[in-house]
Amino acid sequence: MKAFIVKRYGKKEKLQLTEVAEPIVKENEVLVQVHAAGVNQLDSKVKNGEFKLILPYKAPFTLGHDVAGVVAKLGSRVTKFKVGDEVYARPADHRIGTFAEYISMNENDVALKPENISMEEASSIPLVGLTAWQALVEKANLKKGQKVFIQAGSGGVGTFAIQLAKHLGATVATTTSANNIDLVKSLGADIVIDYKKEDFETRLKDYDVVLNSQDTKTLEKSLRILKPNGKVISISGPPDVDFAKQIGAPWFVKLIMKILSSGIRKKAKRLRVNFSFLFMRAEGNQLSEITLLINAGIIKPVMDKVFPFEQTNEALAYVESGRSKGKVVVKVK
Ligand SMILES: NC(=O)c1ccc[n+]([C@@H]2O[C@H](COP(=O)([O-])OP(=O)(O)OC[C@H]3O[C@@H](n4cnc5c(N)ncnc54)[C@H](OP(=O)(O)O)[C@@H]3O)[C@@H](O)[C@H]2O)c1
Repeated sequence: MKAFIVKRYGKKEKLQLTEVAEPIVKENEVLVQVHAAGVNQLDSKVKNGEFKLILPYKAPFTLGHDVAGVVAKLGSRVTKFKVGDEVYARPADHRIGTFAEYISMNENDVALKPENISMEEASSIPLVGLTAWQALVEKANLKKGQKVFIQAGSGGVGTFAIQLAKHLGATVATTTSANNIDLVKSLGADIVIDYKKEDFETRLKDYDVVLNSQDTKTLEKSLRILKPNGKVISISGPPDVDFAKQIGAPWFVKLIMKILSSGIRKKAKRLRVNFSFLFMRAEGNQLSEITLLINAGIIKPVMDKVFPFEQTNEALAYVESGRSKGKVVVKVK
């Protein structure tokens, strides 16, 4: 089958379109014929080698973390799906590879695709949807009437997280630049701050939750807009010890993460607020909950661009630019 592989790690390296063997389907796995694959910042970071410490993929390997497609084959112990089901997923770490014609994934990582959206739209959802879910529902336990600040409301994570937070009944503040103000308002954002003109710290105070996706300076400011016991959940680092435990990292990686996060943890403690790092994980059950919200029209995919499969490198470069509005997808079939 055709696949885009990382042959060598590096910022300047391009993915190579090549023929590889079809994946072997383990007993609890489903083989999915890929129709579309979502593109994420994580793909670039893995290709560049920035994640080698926590995700040591041995090159050559197939890249890609989001998929929508059709179940083509079942492992002998699969119970949740049948051949022909339309599904979507964020395959688990170490089982990635959606920039290909087929991928085999554990059935627990997969969910039925929402019925009211296309394959391209569906492939844009899993990674950012699960990130927003795990930050706002699982970690923050965001409740009706609470105030949440979601940075970069026009990005892949932001466009989903705003809609989810509004569904949960929260008041949502977000940052974006002038061009995307109408977009984030249309998704339900209550307070919109043009980050190029205004400093969010001067407008926002007594927040319950911040979803941080930007740099260290933004993270530090975010601590200061929280009410006592408020929570900042950062998806852009620094990684902490709990995360090292979650991935079963060796002692020296735990130590590195303890050191990396010590500054921000101390600052949070001084302000009597909570800091935690989130690295999202594959989770078919949560994705099934997301399917229900999309089927009900509560959450809608926000699409920027669909590239043909042959232009996967161009799609990756577009995402790397950091300017996309919503999601970028590659159409495989
Ligand atoms: N830890 C995890 O599990 C996890 C999961 C998903 C994503 N992430 C990380 O979270 C970050 C965001 O991911 P994403 O997929 O949402 O990225 P994305 O879709 O590429 O974000 C692009 C958007 O960010 C906006 N933006 C750029 N700089 C901004 C700033 N300083 N303030 C406010 N908005 C800004 C841009 O709007 P303008 O053009 O208007 O500037 C653009 O619409 C990335 O670093 C990604 O790697 C982590």
